[in-house]
Amino acid sequence: MANDGANDLSPEQQIEILKQQLAQAQKMTALGELVSTTTHEFNNILMTIINYAKLGMRHRDNATREKAFDKILSAGNRAAKITNSVLGIARNRSTSLEPTDLVQLIEETLILLEREMNKYRIKVEKKFLPIPEAVINGNQIQQVVLNLLINARQAMPSGGRLTIRITPAEETDMIDLVIRDYGTGIPADKLPKIFDSFYTTKQGPDESGKGGTGLGLSMCRDIIEAHHGRIRVDSSVGKGTAFTIKLPAAKPSNSKTGPVVIPMTVHDKDTAPQTNSNIPIQAVASG
Ligand SMILES: Nc1ncnc2c1ncn2[C@@H]1O[C@H](COP(=O)(O)OP(=O)(O)O)[C@@H](O)[C@H]1O
Ligand SMILES: [Mg+2]
Repeated sequence: MANDGANDLSPEQQIEILKQQLAQAQKMTALGELVSTTTHEFNNILMTIINYAKLGMRHRDNATREKAFDKILSAGNRAAKITNSVLGIARNRSTSLEPTDLVQLIEETLILLEREMNKYRIKVEKKFLPIPEAVINGNQIQQVVLNLLINARQAMPSGGRLTIRITPAEETDMIDLVIRDYGTGIPADKLPKIFDSFYTTKQGPDESGKGGTGLGLSMCRDIIEAHHGRIRVDSSVGKGTAFTIKLPAAKPSNSKTGPVVIPMTVHDKDTAPQTNSNIPIQAVASG
């Protein structure tokens, strides 16, 4: 008998289809937020370019024109950096894990959010210790970082500090990435829910088009899982929240045979946790 309707599918097949649909929804949400971020940034850059071009037309003296060209050039360079970053995301659809400079990846991600952080009066503090390369999928980890940074920003509606730390982990072959905000915090009874798909406390997307789907952290969890990494959250109401991510570090190699490329298993049936209890997430509430 042919399977010609959803009712004929086994529960396992239906779960598999739902998982794929969820992954698709996560991707679409991430893409929507990226488009929103870049459009806002570009609009701002265009305003700068237009205003300085007008200034240069009005004032014909050399000093003013030189200043105008200078501003137009740096705005143009910034726009180029942003397009490069976004094109990188769009181009790289591979899911393989490769030795990657995590610090550079974070810096590139911050370029995308620079104006947004300024606008919401978020002061970003970085502490990057020397680390080996991380064995990651750069695109996917960039998505994780974007999600965590946007959540942190949204937890501080009237501004505040956001710290990003990269350090070698206690485990010798891992790297720790900590993103901490000094915002609202998360009540202890809500902590176990935050990684669930569609769990959100937001009313919908904010004025910059972000959040409110409850798909951000579930995407982070899936990505970190596929990296055989760890993600944990420590939070304290009124004090803030810290997300710690552990990622595999590249082994020091003596050979000069080029980068090691390790195929990544996404939703590998043998290794992917099937229930929440197996997922390498720790939630810690304090204070
Ligand atoms: N840094 C944070 N500070 C406070 N609450 C947070 C933070 N990050 C996540 N949360 C909580 O977890 C929920 C789920 O986050 P997420 O999966 O990114 O979905 P969304 O941002 O669309 O709500 C948020 O609605 C919020 O309640
Ligand atoms: Mg979010």
